[in-house]
Amino acid sequence: MIGTDISHASNLLQKGKVVAIPTETVYGLAANAFSSDAVLKIFSIKKRPLFNPLIVHTDSIEKINQFVEEIPKPLKNILHHFWPGPITVLLKKKIQIPDLVTGGSSYVAVRIPKHEMTLSLLKSLPFPIAAPSANLFGRISPTSALHVSAQLRNRIEYILDGGLCEIGIESTIIFLNETSKVEVLRTGGVSIEALTSMLGYEPMYKKTSQSIIAPGMLKSHYAPKIPLYIGEIKTMIENNIGMKICVISFSEIFAHPQIIKQIILSKNKDLHEAAKKLFGAMHEAEDSNADIILSEIFPNVGLGIAINDRLKRASIK
Ligand code: TXA
Ligand code: MG
Repeated sequence: MIGTDISHASNLLQKGKVVAIPTETVYGLAANAFSSDAVLKIFSIKKRPLFNPLIVHTDSIEKINQFVEEIPKPLKNILHHFWPGPITVLLKKKIQIPDLVTGGSSYVAVRIPKHEMTLSLLKSLPFPIAAPSANLFGRISPTSALHVSAQLRNRIEYILDGGLCEIGIESTIIFLNETSKVEVLRTGGVSIEALTSMLGYEPMYKKTSQSIIAPGMLKSHYAPKIPLYIGEIKTMIENNIGMKICVISFSEIFAHPQIIKQIILSKNKDLHEAAKKLFGAMHEAEDSNADIILSEIFPNVGLGIAINDRLKRASIK
């Protein structure tokens, strides 16, 4: 069922059940993060491999301090600055967080999401919630209650409907490396530029530090049901003669008899708008009658970096 009843969602979670919740990034599939039994249900509903760890969500830094060893000093400022918001940080966990949540790692991923309904839900709970994106494993992330319902309708009892996600792309995941510098594990809703201006240096984000192995940073992800290719649209059309095509573009309109659908993410070339619409466009494209999806590569700045990352993982090389 889809609804807006926060106390119903709260009761279900307190009974150890799984509920889909809205956040500013994408919808999450939530359960009591202190309970292995509850968290196990998330993995089975999502058909997610157990080695792929989950982000833990709560509504205050005080609560975070109850289940992590400490928030290292060099992280304090940026977390205060970006929370509530689309940034997730890896912190050394305390015993309350089951190994199942972290894929066996001693670090837990934590974030305070920026969504009014979910913040009041979190306030009502005596535990934080573990929540991956509310899609089946490897499929397109949901940015509306209907997206969640399309994939998980028969597998969960309740979807808390908080409208369309404001950011539309998952959180940026950061950690502190062995030289006390911030590194980016996954690009997302907080841009590299925004991080850089807060930190005073550009965080590394292309290579993963050896100190924290990131389980589950899988290459193939976010996949639509039909093949998606990224690149120069005109060239890709020439390489796909006879195919019915759905085009996803930033702002340009393309005309070709094979194009049966076109989704423009932002007429005004606004990367925030494009990020917000990206997953919705993928859902729409896979539900069209097209044989393949062709998408442009976006400008590699600001949220464009995270958009390109998601497109790359969704695409066929
Ligand atoms: O915006 C978001 O981050 C959304 C909303 C629901 O909060 N959540 C989300 O969760 O994107 P998910 O599970 O789809 O992606 C989380 C990623 C995992 O793929 C994993 O690689 C990484 O976060 N992760 C989680 N816990 C980790 C840990 N302890 N160590 C390293 N990586 C971790
Ligand atoms: Mg996901």
